Amino acid sequence: MTTGQRVVVRELAEDPRAAIEHSFALEPMAPPDPATLGAADVIVEVRSASVGWVDLIMSSGQYQHLMQPPYTPGLEYAGVVRWVGPDAGDHVAVGDPVLVDGLLAGPRSLGAYQRWGGWASYAVAPAAAVFRIPGGLSFDQACNLLGNYETAYHALVARGRVQPGETVLIHGASGSTGLAAVQVAKILGATVIATGRSAAKLAVVAAAGADHVIATGDRPLRDQVKALTGGRGVDVVHDGVGGDISLESLRCVRFGARYLIVGWAATPLVADGKGRRGAPNANLLPTNLIMMKGLDVLGCPAAISIAHDPSLRPPRFAQVWRWATDGLIKPYVSHGFAIEDYAAALRARWSGDVIGGCVLRPGPATAATTARS
Ligand SMILES: NC(=O)c1ccc[n+]([C@@H]2O[C@H](COP(=O)([O-])OP(=O)(O)OC[C@H]3O[C@@H](n4cnc5c(N)ncnc54)[C@H](OP(=O)(O)O)[C@@H]3O)[C@@H](O)[C@H]2O)c1
Repeated sequence: MTTGQRVVVRELAEDPRAAIEHSFALEPMAPPDPATLGAADVIVEVRSASVGWVDLIMSSGQYQHLMQPPYTPGLEYAGVVRWVGPDAGDHVAVGDPVLVDGLLAGPRSLGAYQRWGGWASYAVAPAAAVFRIPGGLSFDQACNLLGNYETAYHALVARGRVQPGETVLIHGASGSTGLAAVQVAKILGATVIATGRSAAKLAVVAAAGADHVIATGDRPLRDQVKALTGGRGVDVVHDGVGGDISLESLRCVRFGARYLIVGWAATPLVADGKGRRGAPNANLLPTNLIMMKGLDVLGCPAAISIAHDPSLRPPRFAQVWRWATDGLIKPYVSHGFAIEDYAAALRARWSGDVIGGCVLRPGPATAATTARS
């Protein structure tokens, strides 16, 4: 194994834009030394690591899981196994193409493997977190699988109990979690109404299976949703955007609908800079509408829920894995960059250029590319 490189967040910034300009740095990285690793550890040479919204907002402490700098970002990654400890089992071997479970290794995990983020030439993970890539997915697709589709499963299945024939309104449908939710809702037999700010991005959402797409800002959301549902309103809202669209959505639902709170991409500054708590809360829902419409408002934190109830994970993981193995879900990745171009990748994520996934590809320097997997 030769010397590589990794991205490091040196200090948390005031907000994500300041973080992109000042907090990240690229530095040389010696390959991990097997003599210092555990007997059930695995060394992965990273080929592709996702650049997620969470990686971005984490760098200014705007994410609930607060990292202490310096740390290497990269919640999810995929690559080639380069070393396997003697007690790692036989489910992976040197040379295998693998993905790593971001809840067990990397910045979103808890404990010893948190420091091995995927924006690096190499990472170390416990064997229990390392899996051969299913369903012929590419490295770029594999590092956009578990987090996004497990979140979609948690929201739509575990929390939302979406039934065949129901209508689901999905906001932020061009995003990583939104596009996964579109695909999962279709697998569940729902009719999908997807929203977004860009017609070009919504064309991809439609190609991914959405039955109807709505460009927000064209006409009042309520009129468009009511027209598509015969005046009735939707059964379920999947909201990863927050802010104004949440308020509008409460007027687009049938009586007794489920309102799934997945995120707040439109109002990301929840901390008062550098992770200090106390910023004004931009996401407030009116209780009078919730009461009069008999709504079930359901928070859907995919990772936090596991910490409280580990039994939620095995069926969720197994179902996502089956769908991927059977070719029913395929993450869409609109942007890929060499690791040297991490700032361009972060800017693309922040400015909303990305559709679905964005990845960094560590290793030998290559020109930044825009690829579609
Ligand atoms: N519940 C969970 O467990 C969980 C897991 C992962 C992420 N999340 C959260 O879910 C939210 C979405 O995450 P993601 O990974 O899907 O993010 P993403 O890939 O960046 O997608 C967010 C989407 O929201 C839309 N959007 C609408 N208004 C926006 C605005 N003002 N600024 C930015 N985007 C806006 C964008 O679509 P258009 O450009 O087409 O409008 C964008 O594609 C985030 O808040 C994230 O923290 C929650």
